[in-house]
Amino acid sequence: MDATDAGADLVPICALTRRRFVGAAATVTLVGCGPAAMPTQRLGKVDGTMVELELGKVPELATAGGMAAIQPDGLKKPLIVMRLEGEKFRVLSSKCTHLGCTVRWDNEEQRLRCPCHGSRFGDDGKVLKGPAKTPLREYPSQLAGTMLQISIRAT
Ligand code: FES
Repeated sequence: MDATDAGADLVPICALTRRRFVGAAATVTLVGCGPAAMPTQRLGKVDGTMVELELGKVPELATAGGMAAIQPDGLKKPLIVMRLEGEKFRVLSSKCTHLGCTVRWDNEEQRLRCPCHGSRFGDDGKVLKGPAKTPLREYPSQLAGTMLQISIRAT
């Protein structure tokens, strides 16, 4: 197993406490959380430079504060999708910017944690602790009806 494969199957990505997403104005309650770890949901697929996510299939994202790990077909690493307020979402890559392991939500620390070398990232993707030096990649997204359209175009 190389560093890029570590932890790829499960991404514990929920929390049971009230919290505030960085950049969101309201304190919200995360929903749909399991006790310790939640399997990555295999939904959607890459279509060109876009992933469309049917929100009705992800109850964790029904309300502000929801968070889910989504693995679309054709993408190497899960997406970390957060619902902020209203129709605003944040989508981060789960690929650690150090050596490519899959970051996981740490419920106790309330941050994303890399299992390989201990980097920590805020829910806005910014580095809180190295060795990673650059933030997690954020993908632009927009809501179109009941579909969340995520642009995964290479930058
Ligand atoms: Fe994430 Fe090294 S791969 S800290």
